[in-house]
Amino acid sequence: MSWRARGRLRIAIDGPSGAGKGTAARLLAQALGLPLLDTGVLYRMTALWLRTAGQSADDEEAAATAAREIARRAYWQGDALALEGFSVSPKELRAEATGRMASRVARIPAVREALLPLQRRLAERGCVADGRDVGTVVLPDAEAKFFLTASLRERARRRWAQLRELGEEVELEEVLEDMRARDAADTGRAIAPLAKAPDAVVIDSTTLRPDEVVDRMLAILARRGLIARMCKATEDEHDG
Ligand code: DC
Repeated sequence: MSWRARGRLRIAIDGPSGAGKGTAARLLAQALGLPLLDTGVLYRMTALWLRTAGQSADDEEAAATAAREIARRAYWQGDALALEGFSVSPKELRAEATGRMASRVARIPAVREALLPLQRRLAERGCVADGRDVGTVVLPDAEAKFFLTASLRERARRRWAQLRELGEEVELEEVLEDMRARDAADTGRAIAPLAKAPDAVVIDSTTLRPDEVVDRMLAILARRGLIARMCKATEDEHDG
């Protein structure tokens, strides 16, 4: 690690799907030695809790109860998010079906309400948090905010490449139309829609590699005095 956060630092990264938030957030968290708070995981866990209980994502009361269970059980285990008494495999968590169910539960106001204090509590120690409403709703007072975007075609191309790697034969145009619909749903929903916070720095990743995105973020944070380079001696001290 060659950078160090000055004091407790909460960095929000929001943006549409396919913009590269997840990768950028992970690399930035690694570079700064901060925990990564993937807020989408909380909606995914709520969806899995519901499914395990045999309930539907459209049952608002059951979904709210599931979100409250997640909120009650989530804690930091080192720098990883864990749930007391509920284990989920990373594969299941990342599955396309879980994502689809998560997007349905994420529309329910009582679910968002239950997960809001949890996200704030988890962020207290300092973190890189990525999602859709982190800079606007969850941490409006975050020390730094980024809004990561990319052209619709490039975001669709990335998603298409990912799906092909997973062995799914799909047409690029089909993925593009899907993404257009998801964008409209995310930005058009009544509660906590995807939106850029007025004080967020926009980074367009259309022609950038993930490491280039992160370099830009680090440069901005350093310019603002929020992070500092660790000299070799300090680094050894921390490692030892
Ligand atoms: O980023 P992801 O695919 O893991 O998110 C899963 C779902 O949760 C996605 O449909 C959007 C929703 N979500 C949200 O509404 N607010 C957040 N802060 C993060 C995710």
